[in-house]
Amino acid sequence: MSDDAIYFNPPPRSAHTPTAPARPAPAPVEVTIDGRPVSVPTGATLLDACSAAGVETPTLCFASTLTPVNACRVCVVELEGARTLVPACARKAEPGMKVLTDSPRVRLSRKVVLELLGSSVDLSTAPDLLRWQQRYAARPARFGSGAAVATVAQQTKVKVDNALYVRDYGKCVLCYKCVEACGSDAQHTFAIAVAGRGFHAHISTEADVPLPDSACVYCGNCIQVCPTGALMFKTEHDLRAAGRWDPAAQTQTDTICPYCGVGCTLTLTVQDQRIVKVMSPPDAPVTRGNLCIKGRFGTTFVGPEDT
Ligand code: SF4
Ligand code: SF4
Ligand code: FES
Repeated sequence: MSDDAIYFNPPPRSAHTPTAPARPAPAPVEVTIDGRPVSVPTGATLLDACSAAGVETPTLCFASTLTPVNACRVCVVELEGARTLVPACARKAEPGMKVLTDSPRVRLSRKVVLELLGSSVDLSTAPDLLRWQQRYAARPARFGSGAAVATVAQQTKVKVDNALYVRDYGKCVLCYKCVEACGSDAQHTFAIAVAGRGFHAHISTEADVPLPDSACVYCGNCIQVCPTGALMFKTEHDLRAAGRWDPAAQTQTDTICPYCGVGCTLTLTVQDQRIVKVMSPPDAPVTRGNLCIKGRFGTTFVGPEDT
């Protein structure tokens, strides 16, 4: 039997084969960031324009895979002609906008946001936030830091109610990202939501039931987006508790999930020859950082004794 009989070869395109018209490239939008002209495509945000200008902007509630909720305001910039500071993560770039990212108003606003967060939340596992606090010379103690954080830590017991991940809401900055990832932005499971109002607002399962009694399917997409370590792999939590979490001794390797044909990208963190954490790149083309329980937690059993 010849190869032609085995494999189907599509006929060559003729001059009459219809093709989809090429999609026009989005029109460029010219803006100025700190006096520097930048061009971004229509639909881009001021955050995109800042990135294009090489300016790092702090963000907390923003993620490239989630709908902006404008909850944290740490990304604010000064826009010429605007009465108030605007959130860079959500404000669309418009032609001729002039933006300042490091003016005294911007610096003061970001500093106060970081101080308020630092005065009421345990940020010890949020290295970006700690770095930004330094950048803006934030002093959370102005708002009663130490005692308040200690009180939160005492009142908020770490929730360890399953074998896969723990929830420490003493580290939660209420950025809503986990709620969005669990809900309509990714997982559509709606296992968690914001409960309570004002100072009592907090992330909770329905009726505050333990995770195993909730709708949670343990995809871990909430852990993926959490910026503070409030949601954490149990492996990481246990290693930290034992004083053995050691980023300097860890490697990260990208691979493809072995469990099915979807082909999700896994980023395996390995320490002491064990997989201690599994994330997924947000720009991975297949599932944009989202995984299911198998990819997220189904490889952590692999160790030297299994090879
Ligand atoms: S693990 Fe998945 S289903 Fe469970 S709370 Fe997190 S996002 Fe929702
Ligand atoms: S648990 Fe994490 S992702 Fe969820 S609201 Fe709190 S800080 Fe944000
Ligand atoms: S990152 Fe822009 S408002 Fe939170």
